Amino acid sequence: MRFVNGSRSEGADLLDSLADALHDPMLVFDAGLRVLYANDAAFQLVARLHGATPAPLDVVGAWHPDLVSPAALAVAATEGEWVGEVSLPAMSEAHPIALRVQLVALRSAGEARYGFVARDVSADHARRDELSNRNAELKEAYRKLKGAQEQLIQSEKLASIGQLAAGVAHEINNPIGYVHSNLGTLADYSRHLLTLIGTYEEALRSPGPAATAEIAELRRRFDIDFVVDDLPALLSESREGIERVRKIVQDLKDFSRSDRGDGWVVADIHRGLDSTLNIVWNEIKYKGQIVKSFGDLPAIECLPSELNQVFMNILMNAAQAISDQGIITISTGSDGGHVWVAIGDDGEGIPETNLLRIFDPFFTTKPVGKGTGLGLAISYGIVAKHNGRIDVTSTPGQGSMFRIVLPVKQPAAPAAE
Ligand SMILES: Nc1ncnc2c1ncn2[C@@H]1O[C@H](COP(=O)(O)OP(=O)(O)OP(=O)(O)O)[C@@H](O)[C@H]1O
Ligand SMILES: [Mg+2]
Repeated sequence: MRFVNGSRSEGADLLDSLADALHDPMLVFDAGLRVLYANDAAFQLVARLHGATPAPLDVVGAWHPDLVSPAALAVAATEGEWVGEVSLPAMSEAHPIALRVQLVALRSAGEARYGFVARDVSADHARRDELSNRNAELKEAYRKLKGAQEQLIQSEKLASIGQLAAGVAHEINNPIGYVHSNLGTLADYSRHLLTLIGTYEEALRSPGPAATAEIAELRRRFDIDFVVDDLPALLSESREGIERVRKIVQDLKDFSRSDRGDGWVVADIHRGLDSTLNIVWNEIKYKGQIVKSFGDLPAIECLPSELNQVFMNILMNAAQAISDQGIITISTGSDGGHVWVAIGDDGEGIPETNLLRIFDPFFTTKPVGKGTGLGLAISYGIVAKHNGRIDVTSTPGQGSMFRIVLPVKQPAAPAAE
């Protein structure tokens, strides 16, 4: 304190009053921890700590044993100052009192003295605790929401598969049907061939014109020349049929798999498009033609089965937009760090007033039972999760084009909360 114009004796009185007016507790004590001075706020603090003012208050430890720790005192003694926080349990208060303390070494007529000034920071602490509680609650709510969204994606996917089930069954039934019938024919062929081999063996044992005639008769009856041509064809057709069933089953497995836990992988978008096409094929084949023009794409970092779900939703919408016969185009390409997939149709198109709403959950123009209005909302979420975007252009009466743009690489830690 500097005495600018005032006198030292008046200053002592005024400082005394000022110290009592302050909200911050102040104490002065000597090296033996004997309290020499204390302001009003210090007495109020001790009353809060103990529930009443204890007597005597002649040493610091009587105010509170933890008010000044030996370690803090040692620092103040050697370095001139110690600043830190102490937290003291208070009688009849729910929370401890948090104090931000400044402990300074003083000198008076050659004697060591210590000054203790504290600020009550309990309110700050309470606010900080409150904030961290709120933060924890928000995190928990976010986690639950994410779980619910994950579940919604999964159930939408399963619902679509349910919708598609009849078509998929049909797709599987077809090849199974002809493989089954081929097996019947192949069984006949092998029986005939075995009979013929038996007749050849007999002819070897007792050759003669009768045996030769019998062989010729059997070859004619079983039409062996035709069998020789037909048998490899039947086998390869059956193999193709089985291969097709295997592929559909594999695509279904890929498609229905939850990406949860599988994490991000580097995958080929074209493979996803092809297997999705396989699954929705039965739904769209009656709506006309699919025209594919695939560019050169790098494999991208993604959640493949979720992207397949996006392709499926957009392909199904395209097919549903075509009332009779039309063309669905699927083109892909890449530029630098991004790839794009454009799915277009020449169907009914989207009126401008609807363009802003098609990504809203439950927005649908389809009859009850036909559309839930979740397809594009979920697709939007999945693409956003991939740090990509979906652009739409449409002309009513002429058709629509959905263009999905995805980054090749995800920014660091893509799955981070
Ligand atoms: N290719 C398209 N052509 C015309 N309209 C479309 C097309 N794609 C989407 N829409 C419009 O956007 C709406 C929302 O599509 P979305 O896929 O979200 O739901 P939905 O197809 O109605 O139902 P869901 O996909 O849940 O079975 C559709 O009802 C339709 O009006
Ligand atoms: Mg849809």
